[in-house]
Amino acid sequence: MTLVAPANPARRGGRRWFRRRRPAPIVDQAVVVLHDVTKRYPNGKMALVDVDLVIPKGDFVFLVGPSGAGKSTIMRLLIRDELATGGQVVVDGQDVARLSRRQIPRVRRTIGIVFQDFKLLPTKTVQENVAFALEVTGTQHRLIRPQVDRVLALVGLSSVANHVPRQLSGGEQQRTAIARALVHDPKLIIADEPTGNLDPLISWEIIQLLLRINELGVTVMMATHDADVVTALRRRVVALEEGRIIRDEIGGAYHRED
Ligand SMILES: Nc1ncnc2c1ncn2[C@@H]1O[C@H](COP(=O)(O)OP(=O)(O)OP(=O)(O)O)[C@@H](O)[C@H]1O
Ligand SMILES: [Mg+2]
Repeated sequence: MTLVAPANPARRGGRRWFRRRRPAPIVDQAVVVLHDVTKRYPNGKMALVDVDLVIPKGDFVFLVGPSGAGKSTIMRLLIRDELATGGQVVVDGQDVARLSRRQIPRVRRTIGIVFQDFKLLPTKTVQENVAFALEVTGTQHRLIRPQVDRVLALVGLSSVANHVPRQLSGGEQQRTAIARALVHDPKLIIADEPTGNLDPLISWEIIQLLLRINELGVTVMMATHDADVVTALRRRVVALEEGRIIRDEIGGAYHRED
């Protein structure tokens, strides 16, 4: 995907281009592009202000910042749970604001989502929870089982495939959620505080799993308050404060180091 700003915006003719405050970035192979994004909730709250963010394919990005900084809002924009009030949100080459109602599910399937509270169906087994994600999108029955088995093996849950969530540890529940996020072969995993309900040791296991998935080529964006993990791993860190990106650093720490 390429977003190229015209050399002379006015010459392109469209009023949209002319009104832009900044030229669009030149981006190849980006999974996510946020260009000049603003999000104002209906109550007037400005959750994001002039956010520019490019996430290339294969990146592993920590999204950090105090509570209320706008981390979850960025994630909601990516899955079109919310629409930006200004600017452009591009996922896998698609401007999400321009998707037709029919296109939305297909673009959502390119993203796997992992939440802090797992969001598993309590009466379904591990296997059924993961299979359900495929069933609701109309996947052919004969294809479901092999795909489910493959992702359960990947996250190390084959031996508890027939357990229901209350028979699992917190770490196993989060692995189930990660398996469910992976089952559509997404390009991007967004994990919103995936270790928020887990103890430190289990948190590390979950992070290691996300790193392994990233090594398999899946782009990962993870919002977290876990300073130790962020600082130890020295990955890309995007720090938000009051809706603005105040730092975007490769090999960064949780806190600014200068
Ligand atoms: N639906 C909404 N309506 C109004 N304001 C909202 C809504 N959702 C979020 N906000 C506000 O937008 C701001 C950003 O919220 P967001 O949930 O993105 O923060 P966050 O960085 O994820 O915080 P946390 O670390 O606590 O999860 C906050 O001030 C929040 O109160
Ligand atoms: Mg949040």
